[in-house]
Amino acid sequence: MPVDVSAFKDAMSRWTSGVTVVTTAHEGERTGLTVSSFTSVSIAPPLVLICIDRRKYARDLIDRAGLFGVSILRADQVALGKRFAGMIPGMEDRFAGVAWITAETGAPLLPDALAWLDCRVQDRHESGDHTIFVGRVVDCQAGEQGDSLVYHNRQWGSFVAAE
Ligand SMILES: Cc1cc2nc3c(=O)[nH]c(=O)nc-3n(C[C@H](O)[C@H](O)[C@H](O)COP(=O)(O)O)c2cc1C
Repeated sequence: MPVDVSAFKDAMSRWTSGVTVVTTAHEGERTGLTVSSFTSVSIAPPLVLICIDRRKYARDLIDRAGLFGVSILRADQVALGKRFAGMIPGMEDRFAGVAWITAETGAPLLPDALAWLDCRVQDRHESGDHTIFVGRVVDCQAGEQGDSLVYHNRQWGSFVAAE
């Protein structure tokens, strides 16, 4: 029997993740979206992966550009997480009024994030309704220490260290 979609979503909502903004730019176009499906893949060479909905414009722009940036959000950057998830009605340009820099690859990055990574696409895997992009990290930076933004049970929160 096929698994019920809402049961699957409910189960996955119990998984706690960090929150990133994945960005890309190509031939004068740029875009970004909030992404929690981000993880490291390999240390040598340094590889990470992201899973992007195949129906999204960002998926095609990352594919064409062959590059993406990952900005790991701080606990006080919920507004950025919502903005890049398309949750602010009437927001035409998600980058408007946001501090961003251009990385070595040309990807826009959020310099106020907890950390950022600049990546070139090394592999693409079509898997179900998402594309898994594996990125080779060409540059990265950990910002000042701070609390990480987390997403759990469809709620935004912050990481609390155990005793
Ligand atoms: C916490 C959170 C995590 C998300 N993670 C992903 C993800 O890993 N991959 C993805 O394709 N979309 C993810 N999304 C959804 C995209 O951010 C959203 O579909 C996109 O910004 C909408 O873009 P559009 O308005 O251009 O369609 C996530 C949304 C939220 C709120």
